[in-house]
Amino acid sequence: MAAQLATTFTGLRFENPFLLASAPPTESDNNILRAFDAGWGGVVTKTIGLHPVVNVAGPKTRFLRATPDATQLSMQKRPGTALHSSWNWELISDKALDWWVPRIARIKKAHPARILVASIMAGSGTDDELRHWQTLAKACQDEGADALELNLSCPHMDRKDMGSNIGKDQGLISIVTQAVAEIARVPIWAKLTPSTTDIVLEAGGAFLGGAAAVSSSNTFPSLPLIDPATLEFEMNVDGLVSSGGLGGPAILPLSMAKMAQLTQAFPDKAFSGIGGVAEFAHALNYFVLGCGTVQVCTAAMLDHAIGPNVIAQLLQGMRDTMDRHGWSSLDDFRGIRRDRVVTHSKIRRPDTKAYHGGYEEAEGYAASER
Ligand SMILES: Cc1cc2nc3c(=O)[nH]c(=O)nc-3n(C[C@H](O)[C@H](O)[C@H](O)COP(=O)(O)O)c2cc1C
Repeated sequence: MAAQLATTFTGLRFENPFLLASAPPTESDNNILRAFDAGWGGVVTKTIGLHPVVNVAGPKTRFLRATPDATQLSMQKRPGTALHSSWNWELISDKALDWWVPRIARIKKAHPARILVASIMAGSGTDDELRHWQTLAKACQDEGADALELNLSCPHMDRKDMGSNIGKDQGLISIVTQAVAEIARVPIWAKLTPSTTDIVLEAGGAFLGGAAAVSSSNTFPSLPLIDPATLEFEMNVDGLVSSGGLGGPAILPLSMAKMAQLTQAFPDKAFSGIGGVAEFAHALNYFVLGCGTVQVCTAAMLDHAIGPNVIAQLLQGMRDTMDRHGWSSLDDFRGIRRDRVVTHSKIRRPDTKAYHGGYEEAEGYAASER
């Protein structure tokens, strides 16, 4: 039987489970229309806020590259290097809600069968701020957005009640999600930050508030490297730098670890995997851990800004892999490796009695519960 790429996620039918993540590839209607023409099953818009933002006076994103057979890591463009990661300190969309509203309608009209997710962000410190979330959500869904992704994970916020600062507080996550759920007629996805000790708690807050899915990961808080010759950060403005976000190949294993925690804790919930995906072999990691869709940013930025070759490879790679394993749909392999991630003491030792996970068995008592 021919491999079926179509899938249903949070009640929405996707022609294929691949989306462009909220980022420069989805910063305009032009880009999004090109992305749908290229074959992406869905897109998440660049995050839309109520207030205009102003970005730094310099590049917003650069790419860290490694030199094969050497140890050099640098953002300097040079031949024969391999991509290590992206680093950015770009804020949310610099276009206001008014700019987005007619465009959301136009994109949906041109591509009614593709999934358009509106990413939105506001503060959380006051009732007014919570109403901002509702204003954004209502405007986007009224124009035809199929789902809302709450940006609870932007790593560049000074404000304590915004972005990843919300994403570190399970109570605030619940409150914001619930405020949106009060008015939402479309599914809510909560995009969480990986910069937290126990992402399972934050995901619990999102589901409690009414989220239909959790998206993970946003970029990892990080700094650019220092150039040993100039002693300047490789990205800076007037010599100054601020915490930004790491994406791309370097974060795939990190993001997988977060996802494994999430899908084990909530095996019946929906998850969208993000981080370091450039080809189907990468996306497969998220699917077999239990994700129902996968999102891509860095790889698409480096491929004609919207990833026409990336999506072509993802689709072909998925078909080839499904044929090889005799799978007919994503349901045949979603989550099949979720239970392989276990506590360290469950990994076999040469002598099975030798290790008890760091606990000593007390003489005369039954083995402790772990
Ligand atoms: C330049 C840039 C801008 C981004 N802007 C947003 C944003 O506005 N909203 C958001 O939720 N995530 C944003 N992200 C994060 C991406 O959506 C994605 O979560 C992250 O880059 C990891 O995926 P990747 O490894 O495929 O790049 C941005 C990432 C980059 C590189």
